Amino acid sequence: MFNLKDIIRPNVLKMKAYSSARDEFKGAASVFLDANENSLGSLAGDKYNRYPDPHQRKLKTRIAELKGVQPEQIFLGNGSDEAIDLLFRMVCRPGQDSMLHLPPTYGMYEVSANLNDVALQAVQLTDDFQLPVEEVLLNVKPTTKIIFICSPNNPTGNLIEPESISELLRAFNGLVVIDEAYIDFADARSWTSRLQEFPNLVVLQTFSKAWGMAGLRLGLAFASPEIIAVLDKIKPPYNINEATQELALQALGREEALRDMIEEIVQERELLMEALPNMPSVETVFPSDANFILVKVKDPNGMYKYLLDKGIVVRNRSSLPGCEGCLRISVGTLEENQQLLQAISQFN
Ligand SMILES: Cc1ncc(COP(=O)(O)O)c(C=O)c1O
Repeated sequence: MFNLKDIIRPNVLKMKAYSSARDEFKGAASVFLDANENSLGSLAGDKYNRYPDPHQRKLKTRIAELKGVQPEQIFLGNGSDEAIDLLFRMVCRPGQDSMLHLPPTYGMYEVSANLNDVALQAVQLTDDFQLPVEEVLLNVKPTTKIIFICSPNNPTGNLIEPESISELLRAFNGLVVIDEAYIDFADARSWTSRLQEFPNLVVLQTFSKAWGMAGLRLGLAFASPEIIAVLDKIKPPYNINEATQELALQALGREEALRDMIEEIVQERELLMEALPNMPSVETVFPSDANFILVKVKDPNGMYKYLLDKGIVVRNRSSLPGCEGCLRISVGTLEENQQLLQAISQFN
């Protein structure tokens, strides 16, 4: 049986959150002399002399409506990378506990584990980049606190089959984190719809991909109110800045534009998927549920350098176990994709 209290670090369980000036005073006032801000104003523009809402109430209310969850089930981070780091700090005792991830996958799980002195357990995805549930369960130790699953997976681009994830959620008594950074490009339901069913489920999403807001740094974690309360307790008080909160609220009012953009990116992805296999230098184009495509080519290092010379940067993933020979290519604009295809067709 999963019991959150059993896995939270004792120091985290005991500690109190920082009480900010904005927490201690909640009424209406016109003179704010409580937070050592600059009352004269800001050189960066209106309002930025004041600290932002540490609880991001307006933003969470809007996101909750959009995603069909309660505001208490949402944590907002300075990118989902912040949520990844805080999840480690919440449950993994440095030098004692471990996490399990499934390479080839997103590199920050490993980096964040290393930073937090958390041991790394790696179970390779299957040949078709799926979850080997039994092998994962065989590798789980009493110290394994978190399993990271990326779906759609970066850099392979595919969704992980939901049945294998639910099997893991039922059998594992630690946190199962499903990173859905690319879910908006997939024809699949988000795992946020199953939060009630699984108390150990954490779903990560981000505004960096479909929403086009990578520069503003806004990531989301969805989980039970109990898990979210702990993440909120340990986060830096003002982790989401005022400009990001304002601009995200504006963006959230433009759902139709979001849908149009996703549609265009998916269309462009399909065009690339059709064109790339016809190129003599391309060996395999892997199916993609994301805004990038993993492509196995005959000479990955040569092709990478050749594209760079033409001013086109892709990601060389050919040295990652499981991605031998592969480049990861983000879907660009129509013009960028044409430029890419033209260049690849001339490579020999
Ligand atoms: C799978 C995955 N998760 C998380 C992130 C990081 O997202 P953010 O920009 O919200 O920190 C990325 C970024 O590339 C990613 O590929």
